[in-house]
Amino acid sequence: MRAVDIIIKKREHLELSSNELKEFLHGYLKGDVTDYQMSAFLMAVFLNGLSDNELKVLTETMRDSGDLIHLEGVERFLIDKHSTGGVGDKTSIALAPLLSTFGIGTAKMSGKGLGHTGGTLDKFDAIPGFKFPASEEEMVKSIDHSGIGIMGQTEDIVPLDKKLYALRDVTGTVDSYPLIASSIMSKKLAVRSDGIILDVKVGDGAFMKTLENAQTLANIMRDIGSMFNRKVHIVLSGMEQPLGNAIGNGLEVYEAVESLKGNGPKDFEELITTITGIALVQKGDVKTIEEGINMAIEKLHSGEAVTALRDFVADCHGDASYIEQPEKFLTAKYKFELKAEESGCISQLKAESVGTAGMLLGAGRETKDDIIDHAVGIVLEKKVGDKVNIGDTLAVLHYNNENDKFKQSLALLQSAYVISNSNIETPKVILDI
Ligand code: URA
Repeated sequence: MRAVDIIIKKREHLELSSNELKEFLHGYLKGDVTDYQMSAFLMAVFLNGLSDNELKVLTETMRDSGDLIHLEGVERFLIDKHSTGGVGDKTSIALAPLLSTFGIGTAKMSGKGLGHTGGTLDKFDAIPGFKFPASEEEMVKSIDHSGIGIMGQTEDIVPLDKKLYALRDVTGTVDSYPLIASSIMSKKLAVRSDGIILDVKVGDGAFMKTLENAQTLANIMRDIGSMFNRKVHIVLSGMEQPLGNAIGNGLEVYEAVESLKGNGPKDFEELITTITGIALVQKGDVKTIEEGINMAIEKLHSGEAVTALRDFVADCHGDASYIEQPEKFLTAKYKFELKAEESGCISQLKAESVGTAGMLLGAGRETKDDIIDHAVGIVLEKKVGDKVNIGDTLAVLHYNNENDKFKQSLALLQSAYVISNSNIETPKVILDI
């Protein structure tokens, strides 16, 4: 069938056969189907959706478009935890070592941050000398030793998704549930894991702004998991305000390490112990998530998980003394304390503004080629539900340049805080599982 006929069929709400869709997608990979034809097709999908079979074929074709990571020989039960991205989201750095203390391995690919959201790759890059495992063989070794297998996204895994995502980005077709779900799941299915846990962020600083939208996306990803016989749990977690207190790469690793010693912020602790509880259910060690959470809390307060993180960092040529003495991350030249100008209760702390304020200091990238300053960022002293008096410190900016961007960052951070007269409850971090 000609490409134009496929596009017309999709436009007219007719279901494509498996062969028709596969042929069209392969044609795009080979260059026989043009970008403008694929753009029209994506818009038709955006408007008309995909049938279950089309969703399966799209996901499968993306998964099989590049290398698959089989992780042969790894004996540990393997979890792939994926977050849809947010502000202050250092979950993987603390979760993987915590899982390791239960004999659970982590196998995942991570990405770089862009705009107001951070990326796990940039956070580990704050550790001098650190280099991610570069091959499947190195990843297997790393999982065997520390239990942690995190590698950077490579060009060779799911290349069709990369090509389609770049096109979606410039054709107004990113925000389509089936396209997002198949894009995320194809990357999860390309890497061997025994359990997948998706942390879908909800709120101001996230891709999904409402609980309803996040639930719709979660249901589609869960259905894709079933189509491929994979265990999938989905956590919907709050991103109205940043997760934890630290935003910025070195600062976030510092906070993750402190959390592994039981000294972390409550919301962050709740998220990592909940995901660990789910992983223990997937592995079959416990019957209920609550049982698993209690085991995770106990482990967190024992400090045992720091060893796994230290081993992973050392295996990756990083300076492990940074994990033993995380205060080494606190190297920014200047600190500025943002003070409350009125008394009351914090009713809002807009995550996107805080993320952008961090980016302006140099903690993130405005465009994909920007260079990151790993020392800078923001530490929140007050969050939603906290009471404040005039003059109390709301947040501390860690920065290296007293330039216009610093002033813009400060103004943005100031505007991110809303203080009200009435009492506000501390928001829940886990919204649904
Ligand atoms: N993240 C992805 O990996 N793909 C999307 O389409 C959106 C977010």
